[in-house]
Amino acid sequence: MVKILGIETSCDETAASVITDEGEGEARILSNVVLSQLDEHRPYGGVVPEIAARSHLDHIDRIVDEAMDEAGVSFAELDGIAATGGPGLIGGVIVGVMTAKAIALTHKLPFIAVNHLEGHALTVRLTDQVAFPYLLLLVSGGHCQILAVEGVGKYKRLGTTIDDALGEAFDKSAKLLGLGYPGGPHVEKAAAKATNPARFKLPSPMKGKPGCDFSFSGLKTAVRQAAEALPPGPFKEEDLNDLCASFQMAAADSLINRCKNAIKMFKADYPEGNTLVVAGGVAANQTIRTQLTGMCEKQNMRMVAPPLKLCTDNGAMIAWAGLEAFKAGKIDDLTFAPRPRWPL
Ligand code: KG4
Ligand code: ZN
Repeated sequence: MVKILGIETSCDETAASVITDEGEGEARILSNVVLSQLDEHRPYGGVVPEIAARSHLDHIDRIVDEAMDEAGVSFAELDGIAATGGPGLIGGVIVGVMTAKAIALTHKLPFIAVNHLEGHALTVRLTDQVAFPYLLLLVSGGHCQILAVEGVGKYKRLGTTIDDALGEAFDKSAKLLGLGYPGGPHVEKAAAKATNPARFKLPSPMKGKPGCDFSFSGLKTAVRQAAEALPPGPFKEEDLNDLCASFQMAAADSLINRCKNAIKMFKADYPEGNTLVVAGGVAANQTIRTQLTGMCEKQNMRMVAPPLKLCTDNGAMIAWAGLEAFKAGKIDDLTFAPRPRWPL
């Protein structure tokens, strides 16, 4: 039986988790402790890197202790320590990597540097039975990509955003509408109350274009223009709800169009491939999940997304990716340098 501690500090969650390879699905998560820094960043309408780094430093030891206590495991019983090695806000990544290295050195354990995106990419193999190869739509606050996942550490990028990530478009649109941070959940909540989701005619970016790249900055601009065309003064709730729903529909429509092209490209390379995995924070959006599931049914594909709490950043995804890497013999040296940028 293998047991791995995973540490995640690349953005605004200080998180630690212990994972084992024994058992099935989420029963393999022995603990998963996530401390969100949202309250510290909310006044600024976004993540402030210096505040994030300091807060990770203040809390990481306690969060690791909590994860170990909850799992009922001592450091000596672990097989390895994994930490997000990038990409992300470098101050936070350094805190996580240094903590993991210190534990690894003290307890003579292997250290595994995990690519944060690989954490999102492999989470479905923890929660569901998903075999390689699969098609991955990775939609988070910092990334928006479609990849063929061939194995641990084996990725082929089919498409990416040419400007904003989708989570970023959710966050920026929410900000300009006076909704809170992070924008995704606020936009989703407002959209659920809409009476006329088709009221605002917003563009579905890249729809009809060949390939499977994305673009979301034009959609964000269209939201701003639609908001500016509303009567002056504070937004009426029904206008806000309809606008959020129209935005979500346009975003989902664009994703569907891009994914259809990606499925064709994927199937040309892997005729046996039949799974689309949706991961990253935006995969928590119910409308987007439902729309993608419907599209997959028509394309003879299966859509799999992690449970909502494992879509946004957490330690379990890093521990799991670390466990997969460990089993594949991929261990890092303690000289590993944290990477602000680290494409898959
Ligand atoms: O994966 P994640 O936690 O962090 C990154 O690696 O970026 O993703 C955070 C992003 C934010 O942009 C947030 O607004 C978005 O995921 N998000 C959502 C929802 N929940 C989080 N977007 C749409 N609908 C949601 N329910
Ligand atoms: Zn993430």
